[in-house]
Amino acid sequence: MQSREKWRSSFGFVMAAAGSAVGLGNLWGFAYRSSQGGGLAFLLLYVLIVLLVCVPVLVGEMVLGRSTAASPFLAPSKAAGDSWKPLGWLFAIASCGILSFYAVIMGWTVDTFFHSLFVGLPSDISEAGAFFDRISTGKSVFIGQIISLLLTAFIVSAGVRGGIERLTRLCMPLLFGLLLLLAIWAAFLKGSWEGYSTFLLRWDASQLLEPGTIRNAFTQAFFSLSLGIGIMVAYSSYLDKNNKLPKEALGIVSFDTAVGLLAGMITFPIVISFGLTDVISESTVGALFIALPTGFANLGIFGRLIAGIFFGLAFIAAITSSISLLEVPVSSLMDQLNWERRKAVIVSTLIVFVIGIPSAISLDVLGNMDAIFNVLLILGGFLISILLGWVIPRKYDEDLALANSSYRVRKYLKFMLRWVSPPVIAIGLVISLTDLFQSWI
Ligand code: PFF
Repeated sequence: MQSREKWRSSFGFVMAAAGSAVGLGNLWGFAYRSSQGGGLAFLLLYVLIVLLVCVPVLVGEMVLGRSTAASPFLAPSKAAGDSWKPLGWLFAIASCGILSFYAVIMGWTVDTFFHSLFVGLPSDISEAGAFFDRISTGKSVFIGQIISLLLTAFIVSAGVRGGIERLTRLCMPLLFGLLLLLAIWAAFLKGSWEGYSTFLLRWDASQLLEPGTIRNAFTQAFFSLSLGIGIMVAYSSYLDKNNKLPKEALGIVSFDTAVGLLAGMITFPIVISFGLTDVISESTVGALFIALPTGFANLGIFGRLIAGIFFGLAFIAAITSSISLLEVPVSSLMDQLNWERRKAVIVSTLIVFVIGIPSAISLDVLGNMDAIFNVLLILGGFLISILLGWVIPRKYDEDLALANSSYRVRKYLKFMLRWVSPPVIAIGLVISLTDLFQSWI
């Protein structure tokens, strides 16, 4: 057996976990989903789901990882017996599936980055469609996908400390600082206030009961927090006993939500200021790859520079997420088959590349992969809440007590994990599934 790696510091762990959470989902999903009619109702549902439902589950994933010191594939059965093996499979399948199409979108990001700096961006909406076709079809998609996967594999093969922690502790504060600057810049654009009020602050109470809005809030919460997929199990398996998990979970959640909001505060003023309203709610990726490049291009060479910074940042955000996705199959192969890290990285990356080919070729496939795997994350979250809340509740409590988390915090989390998370996630799962099937019919 190889000895298990450990994070260098608690800050490093939080940055790695926040790096997994903060990604394209924040930059594109948050703006897109809140603009689909939900507005403030979406935001409210999202925050409630995150705080009341996701935080206890997030802590649950962390406990599962730390207490078993096992990979996501083995942790559930190690903690609760062989009948929980399928959850390990779910983690492995979902992480490979998500990374397969995530890498394709990362490839578009690389392409847009190069267009911003060296080629040029669309100057109006009629050109924007052709621009999006160029980055999302043909050979360049494969090149982008392969570059993204190779970089991801390179970092993961350098290990937990030398690769993942080193990259994220540097990039996450940088990302946050630059996004903040961009949001301040966007606030001074003409129409910025109208942008916030149209998309983010519009209040319509009936949206609280709208299945589409509820599904959007659930999907965004789980996808954005990288929850229900075993990533936090993998990352926490490299933790020491003295980390205060609830505090760290709250740090991760706050960071992630702040970045989502910042992305909205950059996107919406640009959209209004340059008359791109229709684009943003039309397609899932419209905001990021159509509206923003067009908006930036309107500012001439300066705009292209800002676009370059923005898409460079988006890529950094994405890579700190993609490495966490790859870590799930990699650590699982290392654990289960006693493979070396390098071999596990090569095999996992190849599998992910092959699964991703259909998404690279067809936008429809990509959209469906996104929809299906998002539902699997919610299912994963539900099973984790049952496992830790009902099957091994003592482990949850004991593990948190190890690091002296206060009795009140433990009691609150245990209550929420048992009585609130499972039913609420179950409702979210049913609504999301129904909404998904209806969208197919
Ligand atoms: N949370 C990342 C994002 O918002 O882009 C992406 C992601 C990572 C999604 C891991 C899901 C996941 F399991």
